[in-house]
Amino acid sequence: MQKRQFLNAIAGATLALTATVTASTAMAQDKFKIGLILPMTGPFASTGKQIEAAARLYIAQNGDTVAGKKVELIVKDDTSAADVTKRLAQEMVVNEKVSVLAGFGLTPLAFATAPIATQSKTPMVVMAAATSSITQASPFIVRTSFTLPQAAVAIADWAPNNGIKKVVTLVSDYGPGIDAEKFFKDRLLFNGGQVLDSLRVPMRNPDFAPFLQKVRDLKPDAVYVFVPSGAGAALMKQFAERGMDKAGIKLIGTGDITDDDILNSMGDVANGVVTSHHYSASHNSALNKKFVTAFEKANNGLRPNFMAVGGYDGMRVIYEAAKATKGAGGQALLDAMKGQVFESPRGPMFIDAQTRDVVHNIYIRKVEKVNGQLYNQEFATLKDVKDPGKTK
Ligand code: PHB
Repeated sequence: MQKRQFLNAIAGATLALTATVTASTAMAQDKFKIGLILPMTGPFASTGKQIEAAARLYIAQNGDTVAGKKVELIVKDDTSAADVTKRLAQEMVVNEKVSVLAGFGLTPLAFATAPIATQSKTPMVVMAAATSSITQASPFIVRTSFTLPQAAVAIADWAPNNGIKKVVTLVSDYGPGIDAEKFFKDRLLFNGGQVLDSLRVPMRNPDFAPFLQKVRDLKPDAVYVFVPSGAGAALMKQFAERGMDKAGIKLIGTGDITDDDILNSMGDVANGVVTSHHYSASHNSALNKKFVTAFEKANNGLRPNFMAVGGYDGMRVIYEAAKATKGAGGQALLDAMKGQVFESPRGPMFIDAQTRDVVHNIYIRKVEKVNGQLYNQEFATLKDVKDPGKTK
C-alpha cells in the first residue's frame, strides 16, 4: 500500500468510527430510560407483577415515545432485598444512564435507594412503599402510592361512630405497620375510643396464630390490622380458623388487608369487612372502568390492585414531566413532576409540590358480593387527604 493510500484508509476508518460513535450517542440520547426496580420473586412478587403490568399498560395506551424519545422500560427483580435494590439502582444510574428510577415495593427498599437518587440527582418515583417519612429521605423522591397515616386516620374516625370503641391493633413490625398503628391509635383515643393492646408481628413469614389468640382473650369490639399487600389472605384464613368472627370480634384495617388482587380467594370471612383506602377496583368512574377492563384483558383476567394504580399513575407523572421538559432529566424533570394534578383510576389526585407526596381521596369501603365476586364497595369519601404524617 502506498503511503497516501494508507493515510486515506486511516482517515476513512476514523470517519466511519466517528460516525458510529455519533450515531450510538444520538441513539442513547434518543432514548428515555425508566429503571423499574421491583420484587418480582419471593413473598412480595404480586406487587412487582401488578406494577410491571400497569406500567406496560400505560405505555401500550399512551405510546412508547415521549418528547420525541423512545421509552425504554428496564425492569429488574430485587427479590425484596434492600442491598439488591440499592445495587440495581446504582447500575441503572451509572451504566444505563436512566432518567428515572421507579418502583420500590417495600419501605426498606425505598430507603436503601434514596441516597443514590440524591447523589446522582435522579428523580425516584415511589409507586408502592407507603411509610410517611420516605419522601423526606431524598429531595428527589416523588410518591404516587399512598401513605399509611392517610388510610389509618380515616378508619379511626369511622370506627367509634359505628359501635367499635375497644380495639386491639395488630400490625407488621416495620415502617408502614408502625405508622398504621400510631396514627390509628392517636385518632381513636382522640375520638374517645380505647386501644386494649398493640401487637406487632414479624414482617416476613408471620405466624398470626399466637397473636390472634391474644386478641381473642382480650375480647375487643374489633381487631385493626395492617399487613403488606400479599399477606392479607394468610391472616384472613387464620382469623376464620380461630372463629374470631363467630366470637363477635370484627376485623377492620387499612385496605391492604382486603387487597383486590387476592380478595376473591379469601372467601366468606372477608365478606362485610370494612377498611379505608385510596383505591378499589370497583371505584365508580368511567376512567377506572376503562383501566380495570384493559388491565384484566392484558393480564389473563387478573384484577388490578392498589399497587397497579400506584404504578400506572407513576408512569403518568413521568410521561407528563418528560413532555414538559422535552426529555431533559435531573432537577428539571423532578420539578415538572411536582404539582401535577390529574384524574387517576382512584379518583382525583395531585402531587403536593412542597412535600412531593400524593394527595387524594380516602374511601371507606365494605367487602360485598357483586355478581358473585367479592369487591371493596366504597360508601363514604374523605376528599383531598394530605399525609397527616408530614410536619410541614
Ligand atoms: C411498604 O413496605 O411500605 C408497604 C408495602 C405493602 C403495602 C403497604 C406498604 O401494602
